[in-house]
Amino acid sequence: MTAPLVTRVSRADAAAVGDAVRCLKAGGLVAFPTETVYGLGANATDGRAIARLYEAKGRPAFNPLIAHVADLAAARALARFDAEAEILAEAFWPGPLTLVLPKTAGCPVAELATAGLDSIAVRVPHHPVAQKILAAFGRPIVAPSANRSGHVSPTMAAHVLADLRGRIDLIVDGGSTPVGVESTIIACLGEPMLLRPGGLPRDAIERVLKRPLAEPPAGIVPEDDAPIAPGMLASHYAPRTPLRLEARHVAAGEALLGFGAKLAAGNEGAAIALNLSERGDLIEAAANLFSHLRALDAAGAKTIAVMPIPHDGLGEAINDRLARAAAPR
Ligand code: TXA
Ligand code: MG
Repeated sequence: MTAPLVTRVSRADAAAVGDAVRCLKAGGLVAFPTETVYGLGANATDGRAIARLYEAKGRPAFNPLIAHVADLAAARALARFDAEAEILAEAFWPGPLTLVLPKTAGCPVAELATAGLDSIAVRVPHHPVAQKILAAFGRPIVAPSANRSGHVSPTMAAHVLADLRGRIDLIVDGGSTPVGVESTIIACLGEPMLLRPGGLPRDAIERVLKRPLAEPPAGIVPEDDAPIAPGMLASHYAPRTPLRLEARHVAAGEALLGFGAKLAAGNEGAAIALNLSERGDLIEAAANLFSHLRALDAAGAKTIAVMPIPHDGLGEAINDRLARAAAPR
């Protein structure tokens, strides 16, 4: 657990926007209003800031986050739009709609934010405070709802404070959020599919698409804090190379995913070794998790030996992801 922070609350004026941007640049956590609910923002390109965000929310698993941007032009740097995604973005952005799209090759969003997936959730909010912060920051901001894991989404600054006081840096108070429920999430990875009903009604979407939205297979609608079920279109990232967990020694030619100052016995013979955090810092480890797994997977070793990782704090989510990645497929 990191040391408690002093959580400042500022009325949403120009000074607060400047403060929010400075804080985001420094890797801080800033809650701000969108038209749907308050979001807990972090720099989407900063893996460590995102790891802190998961810790602040107390998420038991790394659920992928929505990248917020100021406009469609900025969204194009992150995601590829097919013809129907274009239609939806033109019709409903800025607004309470999130699109899940294929990531661009050069997408600058940290792997942790997308939980290692090849798709990314993108949204252009229309709330003036969110817009001002996004425009001034000039980079994507990831923002899950600004509540503790398992609690309901906040629609007032006071809700955010009650849930996250001492865990985040700043709350920009812009009054009650007008929509009050989260954004509607549509995946455009093929047939447009309704992943989460929300602030934008289904019939408005179907009217502009001129066809009904596909339903996700039963039981796999993303839940706020539930990890996305395997087999879903947004199935969790899994390396092709089998993982061997709790490894205390390394066999010759294995890839090694290390943790801590002292690497497992036999590491000299590893084909490749990467350390999640030499100083045993779980926030740093979370920030490195998906990119290290990808790099080790690409090395073509027979197995990836993963050293034991503590289960406290973010360790729970790290171990959850590793267990999924190691599950037989
Ligand atoms: O209205 C909203 O959408 C608010 C405001 C702050 O923008 N944000 C919000 O974020 O509700 P969050 O993290 O509480 O919910 C995001 C949902 C999660 O259920 C997550 O699983 C899903 O979006 N999601 C994110 N990326 C995804 C992806 N690549 N594929 C499928 N689902 C994804
Ligand atoms: Mg939420």
